Amino acid sequence: MSAALEANKVLKVFGGLTAVNNVTLSVQEGEIFGIIGPNGAGKTTFLNSISGTYPPDGGQVRFFGQNTTGLSSDVMCRNGMARTFQISKPFPKMTALENVLVSATFGNKPGVVKDPTALAIEKLEFVEFPMPIETPAESLNTVQLKRLDLARALASNPRLLLLDELAAGLTTGELGDLMDVIRKIRDSGVTIIMIEHIMRVIMGLCDRLAVIYYGAKIAEGPTMEVAQDPKVAEAYLGKKYDL
Ligand SMILES: Nc1ncnc2c1ncn2[C@@H]1O[C@H](COP(=O)(O)OP(=O)(O)O)[C@@H](O)[C@H]1O
Ligand SMILES: [Mg+2]
Repeated sequence: MSAALEANKVLKVFGGLTAVNNVTLSVQEGEIFGIIGPNGAGKTTFLNSISGTYPPDGGQVRFFGQNTTGLSSDVMCRNGMARTFQISKPFPKMTALENVLVSATFGNKPGVVKDPTALAIEKLEFVEFPMPIETPAESLNTVQLKRLDLARALASNPRLLLLDELAAGLTTGELGDLMDVIRKIRDSGVTIIMIEHIMRVIMGLCDRLAVIYYGAKIAEGPTMEVAQDPKVAEAYLGKKYDL
């Protein structure tokens, strides 16, 4: 296994606030890597800093061995890093298919995708999109939008997929189905980094975890070890996670 992502002392400062404080971590190809921590800890900002939303103020990012520090999100997307957002923002007036088609068309390097429509349909089928593909995005509910987000991200043919609280707002039954889709994505060869709060999802999916607290990484390791780490319990879980 080689490293899909190596973050070395990534720093992001907003005015007087150090949102991401020298975070170093590495994610191996093929794993599902979880990032947990309290609200406001800097988890989303970390993803933003490695995926090109804005450049980090310090540190280095390596993506499959290449130095990609500070590259913009469109370049990172075509390099093979896709993401979903905490709040889903589809093009509301466009259909589900058209939304995915935007990614299939513009999210890949020119000339790579011969038939973007076929690719978009394939990805909607892969995530088991439960509605007719002509449904306008504005009429989709939360769980349908999550699947649309996944299909959009997958249509850029990522090697690494970043998920920001994808499971938030779902019912217990919906969670199980979504976890199956995430496993299927990993099994298709895509490495995954997921920010998540729901312990059932973290324990059920993640091979390894990092914990971010006030911008800094306070733990990293196999999921079970991190969940039982007293330092993590104190900072985040509130009590030792009952396994
Ligand atoms: N674009 C921004 N400008 C200023 N402050 C920001 C910006 N984005 C995030 N922050 C601040 O950085 C901190 C970390 O936020 P965030 O990364 O969203 O946390 P998390 O995802 O862990 O809940 C918070 O204090 C937040 O208010
Ligand atoms: Mg966040």
